[in-house]
Amino acid sequence: MTEKVTAAITAVGGYVPEYRLTNKELETMVETNDEWIRTRTGIEERRIQKGEGLALSDMIVPAVLELCKKRGMEPSEIDCLIVGTITGDYPFPSTANVVCDKIGAKNAWGFDLAAACSGFLYGLTTGAALIESGRYKKIVVVGADKMSSIIDYTDRNTCIIFGDGGGAVLLEPNFDGFGVLDSVLKSDGSGRKYLKTEAGGSLLPTSLETVQKKQHFVYQEGAAVYKYAVKGMADAVHELMERNHLTADDIAWLVPHQANIRIIESTAHRANIPMDKVMVNINKYGNTTAGTLPLCLWDYESKLKKGDLIILAAFGGGFTWGATLVRW
Ligand code: UT7
Repeated sequence: MTEKVTAAITAVGGYVPEYRLTNKELETMVETNDEWIRTRTGIEERRIQKGEGLALSDMIVPAVLELCKKRGMEPSEIDCLIVGTITGDYPFPSTANVVCDKIGAKNAWGFDLAAACSGFLYGLTTGAALIESGRYKKIVVVGADKMSSIIDYTDRNTCIIFGDGGGAVLLEPNFDGFGVLDSVLKSDGSGRKYLKTEAGGSLLPTSLETVQKKQHFVYQEGAAVYKYAVKGMADAVHELMERNHLTADDIAWLVPHQANIRIIESTAHRANIPMDKVMVNINKYGNTTAGTLPLCLWDYESKLKKGDLIILAAFGGGFTWGATLVRW
């Protein structure tokens, strides 16, 4: 029994839309092929939210309700809801506000956290700090994105990669050393030139011209991002393991951001962690940006055992990256 309070993950929820955008269908949209996409990225299909009037919040609501049901609690018990995302329902108000309204989380405050693919990882540390402060008992951390809303389906550099979906975890105080134990979080804004949405902010407000130039869509220099991602994730995992005196044998699971199977394999390889201890679902969902980490936890929940040490790692736009150690 330790005196120190940690933020334990006490429930997980997730959601992916029904529609499957396959590599075959993408072949009819851009100059690409199934073989290239599979071998270069590991992706077979991604989910797309179709339908008028549907937005990010409509994917988060079922994930959070699932989490509440599993925990046997009412949404009104949530103290704070943090949404890691870059594709909120509106520029403002925050999607956290919309979700809380839709599920009846009347006693919660909340906010959106924009750290692209690292949104959930940053949210986990932020939520854990709120628990550790002693002021809050139930924090929901969401990672979710509707990437199809900002993807140009004539750009083969990006449209083959991204998908829609996300998940959520509940953080609660724990006095036995379970939950979020340590994080190595980094950022480098000079990387913004490689991965961004150019227009729609205060630098370049949306106009007819920005839309005609397709500046409201994601722009990515894939090869450059790839290089930084491989190094960033591996270095963060290494630093986290070293300062916690951990070897690969101590780690039950590596939970890497799902951007490219080659980045995942190389991160695992550099940490000496065999692929059978690495969560992978990129083949089914593609890159859901802030959604990938909670979707992995959601998919692999039945395989996780109490006490397992897991490392979550991400790299994304900003640049933002890092690694977090959790005792399940
Ligand atoms: O989650 C946020 C962080 N994002 C990432 O971590 C993504 C990191 N980047 C990547 O995953 C990879 O860079 C991509 C999957 C985006 C691209 O893979 P790549 O192996 O880096 O390809 P490349 O851009 O270097 O292109 C290699 C070749 C080029 O042809 P040439 O010039 O060698 O003749 C491209 O034109 O592949 C071609 N190519 C394609 N061919 C078929 C590029 N995209 C495609 C495509 N289908 N969709």
